[in-house]
Amino acid sequence: PKDVGILALEIIFPSQYVDQTELEEYDGVAAGKYTIGLGQQKMGFCSDREDINSLCLTVVKRLMERHGIAYSEIGHLEVGTETIIDKSKSVKTVLMQLFEPHGVTDIEGIDTTNACYGGTAALFNAISWVESSAWNGRCALVVAGDIAVYAKGPARPTGGAGAVAMLVGPNAPLVFDRGVRGNYFKHAYDFYKPDLTSEYPVVDGKLSIQCYLDALDNCYQLYCKNVAKKLNTKVNLNYFDVMLFHSPYCKLVQKSLARLALNDFIMTPKENRTKQFPGLENFASTSLSNSYFDRDVEKAFLGYSKEFFDRKTKPTLLIASQIGNMYTSSLYGGLVSLLISKDISELAGNKIGLFSYGSGLASSLFSITVTRDCNEASPLYKLVSNLRHVKPFLQQRQKVAPEKFEAALELRQRNCHKAPYEPTGPTDNFFPGTYYLTKIDEGHRRFYDRI
Ligand code: ACO
Repeated sequence: PKDVGILALEIIFPSQYVDQTELEEYDGVAAGKYTIGLGQQKMGFCSDREDINSLCLTVVKRLMERHGIAYSEIGHLEVGTETIIDKSKSVKTVLMQLFEPHGVTDIEGIDTTNACYGGTAALFNAISWVESSAWNGRCALVVAGDIAVYAKGPARPTGGAGAVAMLVGPNAPLVFDRGVRGNYFKHAYDFYKPDLTSEYPVVDGKLSIQCYLDALDNCYQLYCKNVAKKLNTKVNLNYFDVMLFHSPYCKLVQKSLARLALNDFIMTPKENRTKQFPGLENFASTSLSNSYFDRDVEKAFLGYSKEFFDRKTKPTLLIASQIGNMYTSSLYGGLVSLLISKDISELAGNKIGLFSYGSGLASSLFSITVTRDCNEASPLYKLVSNLRHVKPFLQQRQKVAPEKFEAALELRQRNCHKAPYEPTGPTDNFFPGTYYLTKIDEGHRRFYDRI
């Protein structure tokens, strides 16, 4: 099949949020630490009415309804998540409740887990299925979703929640480039979830940032090599019209773009540097491994890449800044942000670079080429038009005071894995079409209703 890529996209997020300025004050930290230091405006969070199953049910049902997709059109379904509520039973099997009434049970794929990377792994599996001998002409559906919550402390403001569903098949408007991915996998204990009774990770913040930047360096260098070999083209930042990153918090994304500029600098022969990087000659002795936390290098390359950032990356951070880290769905929330921020004629023909990172660690840098056809009958136009609701939904959310946010997290913490359990969170503030938890019985079986 030709032009395998994304045919349709849907995103969901909580209908309530806590304001990061108010949270700074409530937490007693310096004003600006979360909003300027981390670059976060608002953080979405879930009450005890929502879990990973309900988020994924909602996003799949909405995708099918909004895009008019028949359940029988799906032949592969895979969920990427690190929000685990059952060590054996997958979220995918829960989603089968939507397909069974239509007589559809012939669907390959299952759940995939490694921190924030699971969504990308699920996506790669979906692409492989469509390109393989197992393909039966139907589409693949990829779901990435998570509830990101941290124990009280410096990591808590980097939480969030949400889910993205992507329909993958041939002749798509967002086409995955073949044979150029750069991957980097390694053993690291930067962020992991060894306590199976808790939703919270064990996280070494500083190490996680270093691992993220190290993974980015390695994936980018390999991607550049692969494109040079395959297409005989030299890659630097100018190769991309848009650069998207997994976003734990927006400031790290801006630093990551600066890091790519540093990579370009290091990969440029010394004699050409003055022309391409005027004023940065002093950094000739900088190496990647000695500069993860070098303030001077960071500042210089942040300045150098600022204009590129404003034009090519900032628009992709809309949802991340308004919701927070959605773990597996964060990168794809970035893609949605891009699609709702740019005019369709500006999007047509774009080359989009995507960097996916999951602690532990797993990472890939890959790319998408947007088709040029953007008239009103085009698949690109249809895909983008079906995301018109996202901005209004972001606006319609309800602001909740930090005290109530803390109480909601405490309630989740106290009742994590409890059975039987009757959730008490309100149901009247959900967006229409939201699935929510009605009860967990004594056998830990979960039941849902839809608003
Ligand atoms: N005004 C403006 N900026 C401020 C202020 C202020 N009043 N106060 C602090 N800052 C800045 C700091 O200077 C710092 O920015 P800088 O590094 O650019 O200088 C930033 O705010 C954060 O402050 P720190 O003191 O570094 O924050 P802390 O160490 O308390 O926590 C951390 C930050 C480590 C990111 C934490 O939130 C965390 O552990 N998060 C989860 C892990 C994570 O997201 N890792 C990323 C990759 S892995 C993944 O995806 C999960």
